[in-house]
Amino acid sequence: MELCVRLIVVLLLATLPFTCSGEKVLLYPFDGSHWVNMELMVKALRARGHEITVLRSSTSWYVSEFSSYYTSITVKQDKPQVLESQDFMTSFLEKSLKIRRNRGSLWAFFEFYRNLFSMVRENQQAAAEVAISIFENKTLLRELEESGFDLFLTDPVSTTGVLVAHYLQLPLVFNVRFLYSGEAHMAMAPSPLSYIPALFSQYSDRMDFYSRLKNMIYHGMIFYMYYSVSNPPFQDICEKYFGADITPMSIVRGADLWLIRLDFTFEYPRPTMPNVVYIGGFQVKPSNPLPKELEEFVQSSGEHGVIIMTLGTLLNDLGPEVMQVFASAFANIPQKVVWRFNGKAPEGLGNNTMLLKWLPQNDLLGHPKTKAFVTHGGTNGIYEAIYHSVPILGVPLIFDQYDNIERMKARGVAEMLEVTALDVDSLTRALRNIVDPNKPYKENMHRLSQLHQDKPMKPMDTAVFWIEYVMRHKGAAHLRTQSYQLPWYAYYSLDVMLFFITSTVIVIGLVWLSVGSVIRYLKKIKKPKGD
Ligand SMILES: *[C@@H]1O[C@H](CO)[C@@H](O)[C@H](O)[C@H]1NC(C)=O
Ligand SMILES: *[C@@H]1O[C@H](CO)[C@@H](O)[C@H](O)[C@H]1NC(C)=O
Repeated sequence: MELCVRLIVVLLLATLPFTCSGEKVLLYPFDGSHWVNMELMVKALRARGHEITVLRSSTSWYVSEFSSYYTSITVKQDKPQVLESQDFMTSFLEKSLKIRRNRGSLWAFFEFYRNLFSMVRENQQAAAEVAISIFENKTLLRELEESGFDLFLTDPVSTTGVLVAHYLQLPLVFNVRFLYSGEAHMAMAPSPLSYIPALFSQYSDRMDFYSRLKNMIYHGMIFYMYYSVSNPPFQDICEKYFGADITPMSIVRGADLWLIRLDFTFEYPRPTMPNVVYIGGFQVKPSNPLPKELEEFVQSSGEHGVIIMTLGTLLNDLGPEVMQVFASAFANIPQKVVWRFNGKAPEGLGNNTMLLKWLPQNDLLGHPKTKAFVTHGGTNGIYEAIYHSVPILGVPLIFDQYDNIERMKARGVAEMLEVTALDVDSLTRALRNIVDPNKPYKENMHRLSQLHQDKPMKPMDTAVFWIEYVMRHKGAAHLRTQSYQLPWYAYYSLDVMLFFITSTVIVIGLVWLSVGSVIRYLKKIKKPKGD
């Protein structure tokens, strides 16, 4: 009550339209593009009157220490996590493309996973250090406990957040798409590999025997990575601070609510769980008008329209040769091009192409003159394209990007380019193709967009509703299946099957033995008669 009164006073002073439902949320974010999304959720929660505290590391890159939407607590860290460093990502991209050039070979298969594992190992070790410095800082832990948080929000791809939530015993809500064990559902919902493509498989939900065979291998590699590469540092922490029977996965599975950044216009239909809520595209907003200069450039495209090109924040440097191919192909087409580009202008750039260090992507995609989107296939961009019905020309580079573009191809709204085999001719052809009004891309995307938007509530409102639902009821244990407490053999009923098989074998054996001895007995008593 006192808290409420205090809140009201503070809020009235701030002249913001708050009610007294304000609850205290502790947030452990994952840096980079994940934070771009999470920050929007923070703003939406703040607008509802909740107080958000962000636990960030001192090496944080996107998560700033000061904000008008949240207060932050900074945990000291010596070395940044590799996934949060531009230099590392540039060299990781370089290595990935070298491997990609040899795709199809056994060498490339193993090298792909070796490259991935070494990145994950390094990242998880750095991430585990943050967890240790949190658990070793008794002052910080006491502070957190005494703050009386009502809810813990995190992206569980950072296991540190999951462990802190367990320590504080707070209702736990995830804003998630992936874990190191694969796509989020793989951790808690039945996921038959016969129609659910594994991460990095680049399969759709229609697989023949050979694909299903390979799908299981792809799944196996991620499974192996989780248990032998990504989980061990956190398993050690669990054992040290929580006891031997707690695993990071059991905490993950015990979460109250999963807000999954998926929408079934993007993802293939699959089994789900009562505590899963889909918020795919929650970050997308209607577009705003463009700045004057950009609007003039876009308008000057006339009937041909414009093409938007961006390869994301981390991955914009593919080397001068590839950039030159893009520049020359763009110069070949009648459309105007707005290209997010950081660096020296590539050779062969046409006067129809505008380079910008940063561009208002959502506003450009929402512009009626926009005809196509050339993208690396990050999900933020894909959902914006779906929302604004803009066909996609995908140039996937790393991680889930290939799988993402594959999903859009399966919907008939995208084409994929192989970045390691690009030349001016094929790229020009692909660009002409994707904007061709006689091709079905635009129409398919328009339909997908309508499906995506036809919902009782906007995805962000859905997310906020469910977070507040967990606040109101202090958790959502009634929605959680008991699977999280079962060992794997019990989950698959292997113990039961083993019981049935063993008892059947025993019964058959007993029958066999007794029939045998009856026959022998009968033979014995028959023999004297025959003599
Ligand atoms: C422990 O946490 C407190 C409170 O956040 C902070 O002031 C202090 O610097 C931390 N100590 C270490 C060693 O990180
Ligand atoms: C752009 O380049 C084309 C061909 O190189 C040329 O015909 C056209 O006049 C140029 N337009 C402008 C505005 O410079």
